[in-house]
Parts: sequence; C-alpha cells; structure tokens
Amino acid sequence: MVKIFLTGATGYIGSVIAEFALKAGHTVRGLARSEASAEKLRAKGVDPVIGDLHTLDVLKEEAQKADAVLHLAFIHDFDKYDEALAQDQKVIGAFTEALAGTNKVLVGTSGSGVYEDTGDQVANEETELKPGPGGAARVASEQAYVQAASRGVRSAVMRLALHVYGRNGSTFIPIQIAKAKEDGVVRYIGEGSNLTTVIHVEDAASAYVLAVEKPFTPGTVFNIGDKYDTQVTGKKIAEAIAERLSLSRIESVPFEEAAKIWNPTLAWFFSITNRYTSEVAEKELGWRVPAGRSILKDIVEGGRLAS
Ligand SMILES: NC(=O)c1ccc[n+]([C@@H]2O[C@H](COP(=O)([O-])OP(=O)(O)OC[C@H]3O[C@@H](n4cnc5c(N)ncnc54)[C@H](OP(=O)(O)O)[C@@H]3O)[C@@H](O)[C@H]2O)c1
Repeated sequence: MVKIFLTGATGYIGSVIAEFALKAGHTVRGLARSEASAEKLRAKGVDPVIGDLHTLDVLKEEAQKADAVLHLAFIHDFDKYDEALAQDQKVIGAFTEALAGTNKVLVGTSGSGVYEDTGDQVANEETELKPGPGGAARVASEQAYVQAASRGVRSAVMRLALHVYGRNGSTFIPIQIAKAKEDGVVRYIGEGSNLTTVIHVEDAASAYVLAVEKPFTPGTVFNIGDKYDTQVTGKKIAEAIAERLSLSRIESVPFEEAAKIWNPTLAWFFSITNRYTSEVAEKELGWRVPAGRSILKDIVEGGRLAS
C-alpha cells in the first residue's frame, strides 16, 4: 500500500488515476481548491486536502507526508498558457524541495506538444526537442523533473498524447465539438492529413499507478501513446465529430482562420503532426496498451453516451 498525494484528482485524468490507485489498494489524498471539489473527492474515497497550485506550503507539507506524489493539476486557460506553465514550474520546484534526499516518487505530467510538429519522423524518448512556440515552457517543466533525480527524488514525467480520450472526455475534442455545435460546421486545418498519436485515459492512468508500484530509473521521461491506433488525422477527427453530431458540413480552413476561430495555441494543437513511440514505459514499467482501441469510434460512440 502506497500513500499517494495526487493533484488534479478531480480532473479528467486524475480522477481515473485515483480510481485505479484505490482499486489497487493504495490510499489517495487529493488536492481540492473548493469545498465542491472536496466533496467530489470524498464521494470517491479520496481524502481531500484544501489548497491550490498557489499554496506551495500545503503542497510541500502533503508531499512530505506521502510516499508518492502524482502531479496532474493544471490551469487549462489556453489564453494564458505561459502563466499556467510558469506556475507549474513553481509547483515542481516546491515538490522537489520537499522530497529532496528522500528517494520518494514524484511523477509529473507533460504533453507530446513538446515535440512540436514531428513531420515525417516518429519521435521517441531520445528525440532531441527543439522548443518552439507551443512546447518551450513545457520542456522546461520536463527538465525540472529530470533534474529532480539529481536531488535524490525518484522523479519521472509522463509525456501524454495531445489527445487523451475515452469515458466521454478529453481536452481538445470537446472544444472542437462545442464549436461545431455552435457554428453547424466541423472544421479541420489545411489538408487535415496531420497524424497524431493518441491515448485512452485508462491507459494513461495505468502508467501513473505503475510508476508508484514499480522501480524505475529516476529522472525518466515516459512517452505515453497508443502504438496501435496510428491512423488518426485532423480530418478524420472532424469527420467523426460530424458523425457524432449528425452534421453534414465539414470544412477545411487555413491555419490563420483557425487561429481566429479558436485561438493560435489551440489552432496549433489541432494542426500539427505529432507521432511518437512509448518503448521506455513498456520496458521500465511493464506498461501495455491493449490493441483495438479507437479514438474515432470513441468520439462517435461518446455522442451516444452523452445523449
Ligand atoms: N486531457 C488531455 O488530452 C491531455 C493531454 C496532454 C496532457 N495533458 C495534461 O494532463 C494533466 C491533467 O489533464 P486533465 O485533462 O486531467 O485536466 P482537467 O480535467 O482540466 O483537470 C485539471 C485539474 O487541475 C485542477 N486545477 C486547475 N487549476 C487549479 C488550481 N489553480 N489549483 C489547484 N488545482 C487546479 C482542477 O481542479 P478543479 O476540479 O477544482 O477545477 C482539476 O483537478 C494536465 O497537466 C494536462 O495539461 C492532458
């Protein structure tokens, strides 16, 4: 039994991690920034800790009480993405300080956006990152986790796919669905041939629980993506959304127009090719993704669940 402190426990991915960790017999204390969130956590068997990403003293104290810290909370305001990432680095610094010299587990979260556009390549954990407009600050967060290992922390960072999906949730697909509903048209960018690696939320969650249970090399970056569901393009996502909403209008828009329809950050996420493998997690954690999952099927069927 491992005593876990989890941030983002009320969120999309964190709530599945909490569920899996509890099922595996661990205890979970979860950060809650409101009484409503605390209540939500209690109902799921998670012990709430009142605080937020700015109460660094609370985060440090909880980290010291725990055997393992899993950090998922993130301020998802894509108009203030840089501010969110700056705060993320302060939080990682606080956790590192609290856990230095303990060899306790600290697992953080990043996104495959750090690869930017992978073009014709399929990236892996060794691929050199060339931080650009979308990925730069998140690369700094990743490096902070890697460096925490040199301070005696069993640190790692999960580099999650742009599209974590399943259980009728995700970050970006609902934004696209909402806009398509509002405008009566589903849009994709350019040719829409940009391929992206994706991951089901349950597979993402299982990687965090494995990191709590299995020994791994401190300072490791784990790519977390589905190696089977490899034909997901911007256009296919738009078509799946159209099917889900029974919309017949599907349009290609140039990047500049997409940047106005959503915002430049979101348009960038929707337009890039982003492919990678996840062999380090397979080797070090024994992490496996079952064959046969499909984000496109999930988008269409999620609509049935929602209605
Ligand atoms: N979902 C994806 O497709 C995806 C893809 C790649 C990477 N990621 C990364 O994975 C992590 C988790 O994502 P998610 O999709 O699970 O996020 P989410 O559903 O938006 O949940 C965010 C979590 O952060 C908490 N939070 C937000 N602002 C906070 C603050 N100021 N103080 C304390 N807690 C705060 C929220 O608490 P409340 O419940 O109180 O709002 C919630 O628990 C993030 O780092 C995200 O960038 C996600």
